[in-house]
Amino acid sequence: MKIDYPMGATPLNLDEIADLIPSHLRVQSELNEWEEANILKAHLWLAQKKHSFLLHTDFCKQLHLQMFNETWKWAGQFRRSDKNIGVDWSCIQVSLHNLFQDVEAQIHYQSFDMDEMAARLHHRLVLIHAFPNGNGRHSRLMTDLFLKAQNRPAFSWGASNLSTMSKTREQYIQALRAADKHDYQHLLNFVRS
Ligand SMILES: Nc1ncnc2c1ncn2[C@@H]1O[C@H](COP(=O)(O)OP(=O)(O)OP(=O)(O)O)[C@@H](O)[C@H]1O
Ligand SMILES: [Mg+2]
Repeated sequence: MKIDYPMGATPLNLDEIADLIPSHLRVQSELNEWEEANILKAHLWLAQKKHSFLLHTDFCKQLHLQMFNETWKWAGQFRRSDKNIGVDWSCIQVSLHNLFQDVEAQIHYQSFDMDEMAARLHHRLVLIHAFPNGNGRHSRLMTDLFLKAQNRPAFSWGASNLSTMSKTREQYIQALRAADKHDYQHLLNFVRS
């Protein structure tokens, strides 16, 4: 099948596309729906878990697995190729480990208010770009689970579906690009809009 990429999406390589599990999907909208149904099952899995969030690389992989296990054979596995965005693939495990340790320290020292901590967590997760695909959706869910674990309401993320191209997605990607340059204000405004 041919995959269309909205602004800021990471293209898959041919090996990664070959690992699509359902063989009957023909167009992008069918893949989007299939992935959405898979992600819904991850929410059910989360609902019956006792501890629904852990700042740990194993939890990070487990969540990706549950979100995409019926879609991609590489669900829950870190990238083994480099992309236009993200750390060198061999550094993913260490980068995530460092990120989670930093967040633990930020909580301990109350370095930022909770929204800023969560927005920065989201931005660093997508910058690391741990998986071949699904990083945006996975990192947004990780961030909402982090907020929930801190007894804060989840972000509204522009109150629209960010996976397809729209004015809201453009604002989201622009806010992440500003954060790449250490300006977090646009992202902070966006996540509660
Ligand atoms: N310049 C950037 N800086 C930080 N993160 C970025 C940047 N550009 C894109 N991203 C992130 O990368 C995501 C796209 O990566 P990927 O295609 O793996 O995720 P996805 O879940 O499939 O996509 P989507 O978020 O569109 O549903 C974007 O959603 C965004 O979160
Ligand atoms: Mg994608």
